[in-house]
Amino acid sequence: MVRLTLLGLVLWLYLAAATPLNPHVFSDTTDYPLPNPGNIAAHDPSILEYNNNFYLIKGGVRIPIFRAPKLDGPWTRIGTVLHGPSTIEKGNRRRPWAPTVAWWNNRFYCFYSVSQTGKRNSAIGLASSDSLESGAWTDHGALIHTGTGPGSDIYPFNVTNAIDPAFFVDLDNGKPYLQYGSFWDGIFQIALNDDLSVGNPTNPTADHLVYLPDEKRKPNEGPFMSHRAPFYYAWFSHGKCCRFEDMGFPEKGNEYSIRVGRATNVHGPFVDRDGKSLLEGGGSIVYGSSHGEVYAPGGIGILPGAGDRPDVLYYHYHNTSIGFKQEVCAQDTLP
Ligand SMILES: *[C@@H]1O[C@H](CO)[C@@H](O)[C@H](O)[C@H]1NC(C)=O
Ligand SMILES: *[C@@H]1O[C@H](CO)[C@@H](O)[C@H](O)[C@H]1NC(C)=O
Repeated sequence: MVRLTLLGLVLWLYLAAATPLNPHVFSDTTDYPLPNPGNIAAHDPSILEYNNNFYLIKGGVRIPIFRAPKLDGPWTRIGTVLHGPSTIEKGNRRRPWAPTVAWWNNRFYCFYSVSQTGKRNSAIGLASSDSLESGAWTDHGALIHTGTGPGSDIYPFNVTNAIDPAFFVDLDNGKPYLQYGSFWDGIFQIALNDDLSVGNPTNPTADHLVYLPDEKRKPNEGPFMSHRAPFYYAWFSHGKCCRFEDMGFPEKGNEYSIRVGRATNVHGPFVDRDGKSLLEGGGSIVYGSSHGEVYAPGGIGILPGAGDRPDVLYYHYHNTSIGFKQEVCAQDTLP
């Protein structure tokens, strides 16, 4: 059903020494193509093409930015989005998660998550700059809060976890949207104003996109919206993302996989290949673990095609022959 051309630009999530492995939890299906290596270690990458270059940001201390002339690198670190900890006084403000880079009205924006594992005391922050290269980013602080903070008592912020932002402009009417969410009440889409503040903040326009009503654990997260007429595609990751080394491996199939549903309206309702609503646990698996080597792919984004290049689905994954330790870069140990 998905007419998007899939090209796996793949980013190594973890670099580590060999780990004792339990091979029967790894799928060796060949149903999914092997990745085209991205040649960079990244957790939750976000990529923007600008001026014949690719810019990649990822979760990390102050949100590092990389530039490459091609999608397979070489990637050069050119700076960070934040100059210090986020101004949002929550959780991991020194090392925000899952940032998204976007271009809107002649300015660059970075949405980022401040949170703590397993808690919904979170916020999505926003920073902006007139240049990707200059380092002249301004941190605007929180766009939305969950758990505590201004607006966190308003629906749907009172039932969701404000992490994993994605940004989408509906080309039909030029309106900007934020998608976000992880576990709890799932994934929502919020209408934004032209200055990217939340529209009508005491009663925001909120579309519920993805939800698992029946399961006690609700591991849907990391949304991304794309459009190819006449359909809007709501992408997300489902399953266990990480910490396999200290928390163990889930049963085969319960690790991260990349899922999607589609709708003819940006507000939904989104359904999968079998017609099952994404609000009823639906979501067609587009890409999962394979070849005994690609494990728990997720953290997706789609780079729109340009010239001869088709749309590109990019994602991170664990390479089972490298290991599962949390990626640690020299930069990540800075305060
Ligand atoms: C969230 O807000 C909605 C709308 O005000 C309300 O109906 C609902 O009970 C609230 N949920 C929680 C868990 O506070
Ligand atoms: C996994 O890592 C091994 C060892 O570096 C490499 O040979 C292989 O191509 C990698 N596979 C994938 C799918 O990244």
